[in-house]
Amino acid sequence: MSVQQQNLPRAKEIYNKISKFIPEAEWKIHAPLIEKINKLKKEKNAIILAHNYQTPEIYHGVADIAADSLALAVEASKTSADKIILCGVHFMAETAKLMSPNKKVYLPDMQAGCSLASSITGKDVRILKEKYPGVPVVSYVNTSADVKAETDVCCTSANAVKVVESLKVDRVIFLPDQYLADYVSKNTKVKIISWKGTCIVHEQFTGKEIKEIKSHNPGIKIIAHPECPPDVIEASDFAGSTSGMVKYVKENQPKKVMLVTECSMSDNVEADNPKVEFIKPCNLCPYMKKIDLKKILNCLENETNEIVLDNKTIEAARKSVIRMTEIGR
Ligand code: 13P
Ligand code: SF4
Repeated sequence: MSVQQQNLPRAKEIYNKISKFIPEAEWKIHAPLIEKINKLKKEKNAIILAHNYQTPEIYHGVADIAADSLALAVEASKTSADKIILCGVHFMAETAKLMSPNKKVYLPDMQAGCSLASSITGKDVRILKEKYPGVPVVSYVNTSADVKAETDVCCTSANAVKVVESLKVDRVIFLPDQYLADYVSKNTKVKIISWKGTCIVHEQFTGKEIKEIKSHNPGIKIIAHPECPPDVIEASDFAGSTSGMVKYVKENQPKKVMLVTECSMSDNVEADNPKVEFIKPCNLCPYMKKIDLKKILNCLENETNEIVLDNKTIEAARKSVIRMTEIGR
């Protein structure tokens, strides 16, 4: 699921849609930045790819495509733009570079990391491969290019089961998210050898909290990201990638819903689904929130924070991402 905004509306129209989430005083700072970014990106033939967790002024204001990590990887390979500004975290920008090695890819803040990506190194994967010789490695796209270079095929939360089963083996090494690994193992017969990584945002949710919300809100639909602990997934009505969640709300139009994931996403989805009532958890991803309009403009104006990878890493890591996109959703 992606939001296409090739002909972006002016700042005033955007604010009509998202005024509920942004105080007027704050908007006065955002509006001129949005106008400048949208003008400059056209002049420079740049595209802005934003993850679903970006704040509403980025998601609705300047993104050409707003989507989950699988769709961002695919869009990065398809674009005819010369430059890609990735509004998300470092592994997403690296993945865009792997998909489009001849384009310039920028990340507005190089400190936008990810607890899952930093939980494992290329060396860790090499040690695992020695321990389990011949067992293929499936890595979540939330990993560094060094880890991807040691990987047979990547996956995202949108296609993890499909990717694992595509290998036609009875065992895989599945890295690095222990909860996504648990979710996959419950949905396939393939034996999963996992790693102990977690997402600092999703690990905070508990099954107890979900049950309490359900008991106080009869009829509410709870939809969770597969990075959540198993008891949260069990207590939910649906589990899926961020774009899977967007699609669920759009198609089902539940009266009341809770998206068990990063907080900004609920604002973005609510703006597009005004008839749905959202109960909002307030877990913010500190890495995703490092990106703001000022940094995006700086990136565009000065072409700073370019993602640079050596050819050897690109060659080794690219295969695992391409293979994932060929498998699809
Ligand atoms: P999606 O692939 O579902 O967009 O998730 C990426 C992510 O980082 C979730 O925390
Ligand atoms: Fe990483 Fe979790 Fe932030 Fe997603 S929400 S970028 S998995 S830390």
